[in-house]
Amino acid sequence: MTAAALQPFKLAGLTLHNRIVKAATFEGRTPGGEPGPELAAFHARFAKGGTALTTVSYCAVSPDARTFEDQLYLHEGVFGGIKALAEAVHAEGGAVSGQLAHCGGFKRNTPVEARRPLGPSGGINQYGLLSGVPLSGAMGKEDFARVVRQYGESAHLLRRAGFDALEIHMGHGYLLSQFLSPASNRRTDEYGGSLPNRMRFPLQVLAAVRAVVGDDFPILCKINLADGFDGGMTLDDCVQACRLLEQGGIDAIELSGGYVSRTPMYLFGGGGSPLPAMIRAEASSLHRLMLRLGGGKLFPSLPYRDLYFLEQARRVRDAVQVPLVYLGGASSAAHIETALAAGFDLVALGRALLYDPDLCRRLASEPEYQSGCTHCNGCVASMALPGGTRCTYNV
Ligand SMILES: Cc1cc2nc3c(=O)[nH]c(=O)nc-3n(C[C@H](O)[C@H](O)[C@H](O)COP(=O)(O)O)c2cc1C
Repeated sequence: MTAAALQPFKLAGLTLHNRIVKAATFEGRTPGGEPGPELAAFHARFAKGGTALTTVSYCAVSPDARTFEDQLYLHEGVFGGIKALAEAVHAEGGAVSGQLAHCGGFKRNTPVEARRPLGPSGGINQYGLLSGVPLSGAMGKEDFARVVRQYGESAHLLRRAGFDALEIHMGHGYLLSQFLSPASNRRTDEYGGSLPNRMRFPLQVLAAVRAVVGDDFPILCKINLADGFDGGMTLDDCVQACRLLEQGGIDAIELSGGYVSRTPMYLFGGGGSPLPAMIRAEASSLHRLMLRLGGGKLFPSLPYRDLYFLEQARRVRDAVQVPLVYLGGASSAAHIETALAAGFDLVALGRALLYDPDLCRRLASEPEYQSGCTHCNGCVASMALPGGTRCTYNV
């Protein structure tokens, strides 16, 4: 690996031993919502392969924050499991971050669902059309207070369990991203309209989390550069939002893009369509039918470009001083070097590390090494397979 990538990096009170982060990729390893040894082994493997910081994906902040039943939600009952996970990562010399997430008005179903899922504004919940939750509602005053409290409690649990950092998910069309996006936030109160208003709730969440974890504990957030469709959040919005996050005391911002219910392929910078494999992996015949009917539009096969978010991310780099994590299509020493040379402090990798968890170690001894990930996106469909998310190409 290049000398720059091997440099340690200080993030609040945490020192990372190099600049590489394993981006959150939903693991599919929490049957019944239980974080057991498989999830711990999944993350320890990246630490063993030399990755400085691995991210546990989609840690829902409440039962209602899950998009479906088998997701991890943070509560006292999972404390032992997440503590063991943190210990397993530490034993391999790595650090671990937990991604705090809430699905807002976009969810399939969970058994505890008592009412409509809530987001910034009510509407159709297309993901729940066939599972009994076709509509979402708008959050009211008491909902804001409750959800902010749940973020704080979840952050506290992760910190107590020995996690080294956490990442507030503000991207990809989930709750906080729904607030940021003018397409899903049609509120006319102080939480809607201008970008500062749309950022009000995400900033309240950040403040609540900070109050719980203290100043020396790193809080990252993941935010969209753009939603990738007309009427969605734009790059200008993102630049403004990042300035506000910086003022709000965020420790680092990971830049991404795309909206899972509208532009999932934007998130991946294109590549192969996961649709045929998703149809094969889908257990519900109704959802299979829906994927057959509507999936082609959502999951087209598109040309793929290395470092596909670099140009947009540079705009943010020019606008803020806060540490930035580059994410999107990095899979070789040259890509990592390019991102670091462009002023990014850390580089996150998703699919390249799923292909090869030893990527960091190999880069250290073989500077020309390149992950063999073909961006076929088979890993995306594998999220629904028994055994969980994995590279389906490098088997
Ligand atoms: C199988 C899979 C699952 C993912 N799950 C999540 C997730 O739970 N949370 C999240 O923020 N991003 C998720 N992502 C997006 C990645 O974090 C990352 O943004 C994306 O893969 C692009 O980075 P890459 O080009 O390095 O793969 C997922 C990506 C993949 C491939």
